[in-house]
Amino acid sequence: MAGFGGISGELQAKLLFMNVLLGITGGIAAYKTPDLVRRLRGRGADVQIIMTSSAEEFVTGTALQAVSGRPVRTNLWDKEAEAAMSHIELARWADVVLIAPATAEIMARLASGAAADLLTTLCLATEAPLAIAPAMNRVMWENPAVQANRKTLEDRGVRILGPGHGLQACGETGVGRMLDPDEIAVIVCGPQLAAMSGERLLRGKTVLVTAGPTREPIDPVRYITNRSSGKMGYAMANAALAQGARVVLISGPVSLAEPRGMDVIHVRTAEQMYTATHDNIADVDVFVAAAAVSDYRPADLAKQKIKKSKATMSLDLVRSQDILDSVARLDDAPFTVGFAAETENVRDYALGKLENKKLDMIIANRVGDDCGFDRDDNTVNVFWRDGEREFATSAKIDLAHQIVRLIAERFAATRGADTQPKLTVVAIKE
Ligand SMILES: Cc1cc2nc3c(=O)[nH]c(=O)nc-3n(C[C@H](O)[C@H](O)[C@H](O)COP(=O)(O)O)c2cc1C
Repeated sequence: MAGFGGISGELQAKLLFMNVLLGITGGIAAYKTPDLVRRLRGRGADVQIIMTSSAEEFVTGTALQAVSGRPVRTNLWDKEAEAAMSHIELARWADVVLIAPATAEIMARLASGAAADLLTTLCLATEAPLAIAPAMNRVMWENPAVQANRKTLEDRGVRILGPGHGLQACGETGVGRMLDPDEIAVIVCGPQLAAMSGERLLRGKTVLVTAGPTREPIDPVRYITNRSSGKMGYAMANAALAQGARVVLISGPVSLAEPRGMDVIHVRTAEQMYTATHDNIADVDVFVAAAAVSDYRPADLAKQKIKKSKATMSLDLVRSQDILDSVARLDDAPFTVGFAAETENVRDYALGKLENKKLDMIIANRVGDDCGFDRDDNTVNVFWRDGEREFATSAKIDLAHQIVRLIAERFAATRGADTQPKLTVVAIKE
């Protein structure tokens, strides 16, 4: 890893030499943990593994010792290991404790404050932030007991990473998959560490984020939309939440897991998004317009399905109301951040939009077949009145965290808030 820009020596040292205590529990996703260790180490972390006895059924300590370069700990009563580094020393050694995969069982043990084994004892004995990546069958995940434990842990400040949506080992599809090892490594080793360590640059602030595409109906079965997946907007909402903000997310139709800890309002059309935005804008400090709102909608909505009759047909389209512009022009406008997704002349169009719409900040990204929409990574340039910053290609969740810190910095500088960040934004180039 190289290329930190404008970052304090202390955080740089932490990012480079972070000690991750990785707890592995007995879920099928444990087979992915050698890859997770490799990715954590690739990002500069030193990894000490603790396995539960169930985890040993899924992945061998030998493999994990080989990839982590450290003996794996499994037993609280291992006299030799305890003599080398006691569980209390291990608990102090950790900069972050990560449990991946986290079973329903470990969530229950953590929620109850149990300390019958090495991993749970360590979790009680450490002051390091705790992050868990749950992985289980979708019905287990939805079980009220598991959800109650999730809430208890979340309320105590445990960071819940995922779970993601998709095909599961049991053959079912739903929410419960462990996040990809790289996604977890990015969160644990990236600038999000700062948020996990208690940084709350937007504490007491309300952030409203729009995300995803809109759907403009043509008839009861057809609509006009675009390729936006909502991933960037959802990542921005989660990053604002991590910085202590109250977050309202207004989402167009997406197939992403419902984010937790924020107010989510689902809409379909540009008009609904406009109304929902203005209904909720009153106390908003920062408005982030990440949605790809249809610029045009059909002038008329056919009541019945349009039949195939003529060789050609044309649709009359009318302009949608411009949500970003309408918020930026409010008398008491919040700090307003727009996105400019362009296929060409990205910089010129972005600067034009910043000026014309009187925005506080604009995030410009090129979109096309190979970049931007419906991907997990993004490359952006951020512009404001008297400055700009370029961000190297990174995972959207990582980028979002960096951009939200920049927003907090600019918000504090221009609105005189008491949220001046202590550090400048970290740009990780790999
Ligand atoms: C083949 C198999 C796969 C399992 N996969 C999961 C899983 O993905 N998630 C989960 O929460 N439990 C899973 N379990 C159940 C756990 O292994 C069990 O609850 C165990 O007590 C967990 O203990 P631990 O949390 O201490 O590792 C699985 C069990 C078996 C036999």
